[in-house]
Amino acid sequence: MQENFSLKSYNTFGVDVKAKYFTEAETIEELKNAVNYSKDHGLSVLFLGGGSNILFTKDFNGLAIKLSLKGISEEHLNENEVLVTAKAGENWHEFVMYSLEHNYGGLENLSLIPGNVGTSPMQNIGAYGTEIKDVFVSCMVLDLENLELRIFDLGECRFGYRDSIFKQEGKGRYVILEVTFKLTKKDHHIKTEYGAIKTELENLGITHPTIQDISKAVINIRQSKLPDPKVTGNAGSFFKNPTIPLTQFEGLKQNFENIPGYPNGDSVKVPAGWLIEQCGWKGKQIGNVASHQLQALVIVNATGNATGKEIYDFSTEIISSVKEKFGIDLEREVNII
Ligand code: EPU
Repeated sequence: MQENFSLKSYNTFGVDVKAKYFTEAETIEELKNAVNYSKDHGLSVLFLGGGSNILFTKDFNGLAIKLSLKGISEEHLNENEVLVTAKAGENWHEFVMYSLEHNYGGLENLSLIPGNVGTSPMQNIGAYGTEIKDVFVSCMVLDLENLELRIFDLGECRFGYRDSIFKQEGKGRYVILEVTFKLTKKDHHIKTEYGAIKTELENLGITHPTIQDISKAVINIRQSKLPDPKVTGNAGSFFKNPTIPLTQFEGLKQNFENIPGYPNGDSVKVPAGWLIEQCGWKGKQIGNVASHQLQALVIVNATGNATGKEIYDFSTEIISSVKEKFGIDLEREVNII
């Protein structure tokens, strides 16, 4: 247990806040001990995964527990399917690389997403036409109410767009300890529908892509427009892409004929990056904070010295201008602490 511990290297924004107490849990026993300690001492707890979807706006006056449970195991179901279970503290991208080295298909479109395996179900991480719900089987959690272990299957997780039970009713109650995915061993479903992938494969001169090729294309696309958090602090997309009623979208089309939208029944998903860019924010810097010059949806700690409050205030200004120009409410995707 450490006191007044800097969390600067535990959040990808690189915001320098302190936790009153900090400890790392490598096993379930260590995790339970830490939770019991917090209960005995009346401390609030904060669980840290990869720190890639969190914005600290102030010091944390409780016990921060870094989840460092490690290990990957496999259960072969048949000639084509394998269950792969990874513990919460495994780095997501390294886990994807492990699956590709074994030629297991299903995770390739999710290459290079920052964060750890344990946080992937929280917001049903997704990119380039795939979400983890597509390959998710179950996850094991610690229930903080009774310190018992429990399994959540696919249906029980209630996955939605950047959403799950762990962000809704289950918020703050469960700690995800390990996640099991069903991957393919030979009959891989190659997903190239997402426009940018097709173009990138063409650039690479690949006509019959393997899962490894898809991963390579995704890595190239991400590296070409998303900032590397090791170089410039950020948490990926700061906002969700808003869903608006079709009627509202049609109304907006009258004034903004180029507005992009992905219809789904009576509603349309509009890319927040486009809305933000139209309001003049792309590449704009105020003090230490900026909207990324290649992807307006990403807010960056441009100088490395931004405070969480500055980043939060910057995001509030973006929300106001999008509301004013388009009448659309942007919702933050990043967890604000
Ligand atoms: N766009 C702009 N200006 C911008 C950014 C985007 O006009 O500054 C337009 C693009 O031209 C494109 C559309 O918005 O037509 C969509 O852009 P992109 O393909 O980059 O995807 P996105 O909707 O901005 C989402 C995810 C990303 C994920 C990509 C690829 C959300 C909130 N974000 O971004 O996820 O990598 O799709 O699948 O759903 C993350 O969650 O941290 C993240 C990076």
